[in-house]
Amino acid sequence: MRIGLLTGGGDAPGLNAVIRTAVLSAANRGWEVVGIRHGFAGLLGQCDMAPLTRQSVSGIAHLGGTILRTTNRGNPLHFPVLQPDGSYVAKNCSEELIANVEKAGIDALIAIGGDGTLGIALELVKCGLKVVGVPKTIDNDVSCTITTFGFDTAVSTAIEAIDKLHTTAESHDRVMVLEVMGRHAGFIALHSGVAATADVILIPEIPYDIDKVCEKIMTRDRAGQNFSIVVAAEGAYPRSEITATGAHPSPRRSIRAGVVAEHLVEQIHAGTGKECRALVLGHLQRGGMPTGYDRLLATRFGAAAVRAVEDGAWGQMVALQSPHLVTVPIADVIRDEKRVEVNHDIVQAARWTGISMGD
Ligand code: F6P
Repeated sequence: MRIGLLTGGGDAPGLNAVIRTAVLSAANRGWEVVGIRHGFAGLLGQCDMAPLTRQSVSGIAHLGGTILRTTNRGNPLHFPVLQPDGSYVAKNCSEELIANVEKAGIDALIAIGGDGTLGIALELVKCGLKVVGVPKTIDNDVSCTITTFGFDTAVSTAIEAIDKLHTTAESHDRVMVLEVMGRHAGFIALHSGVAATADVILIPEIPYDIDKVCEKIMTRDRAGQNFSIVVAAEGAYPRSEITATGAHPSPRRSIRAGVVAEHLVEQIHAGTGKECRALVLGHLQRGGMPTGYDRLLATRFGAAAVRAVEDGAWGQMVALQSPHLVTVPIADVIRDEKRVEVNHDIVQAARWTGISMGD
């Protein structure tokens, strides 16, 4: 058995622990592993791959990033091909990819990635490739799994930032707005905001009313708490932007980091007269060493992925359904969007401890 291993989409702390475990689990079965660089793009053109051995994965479990590199561009089903006039045209390169897989003697692929990567994996399974998926996202928005590695690390990074913002906010009687990642799902904002006792948490699942946000800040002021911490997901948006059909007008994918924080700072200052500052946590949330929880989960996923290959579970994704690791059809994973449930107990805990959800 020769397995091709790739990481796709944005990186997440824990990817290297998955790679290491998959390589060791395969080696201990007498199988070979080939590392494919830059996601599926490494299977196109001249290909970009190299054998992964016990030696090449030694000492990487605690490292952030991915030794295989990754990209959130270059979908092989809509691959941007440069034209003579300098423009790009999207081409379906699946036939070329499949031919390259065969040429490299790869029997099965393990694709580690989020919704995008898993969707591509499923299409390739339909074309006859043998692929197993491993979920990855710091946003925790992959369905059918309770969580993914990278999320706990991102939440820990956000908590540390909120703790630090508290002391400076209090010293200056300011409002500090922290923008965290999460274009479509507010898990990072919710979990970090509740754990680090923010005053306002704004998530895409609960469109906010800026007057309610300002009211919360002024209520604190009147009680002598002259500072406030607002944690906003980058995909948070005001109720006023909801259209008559209930949909948000702008596609969430086009969101640019920092816009939400900037907008909130202006509006909160206008509504309260208070001095406000913004911090956009950005890619710090994706960097650094994975927490112990993420390292363990990544290790479990890596081992489970090789078991799935052994079982011939093509088109399946390994998933955590506590306390067990299971496999689930990728088709089910990409059909459902995982979002914060607006009545989840964590949202209730936020509300009952006086945190405003902006509604
Ligand atoms: O993995 C998803 C994500 O972390 C989003 O929360 C964020 O908007 C995006 O990645 C940023 O990606 P990029 O690396 O393209 O800036």
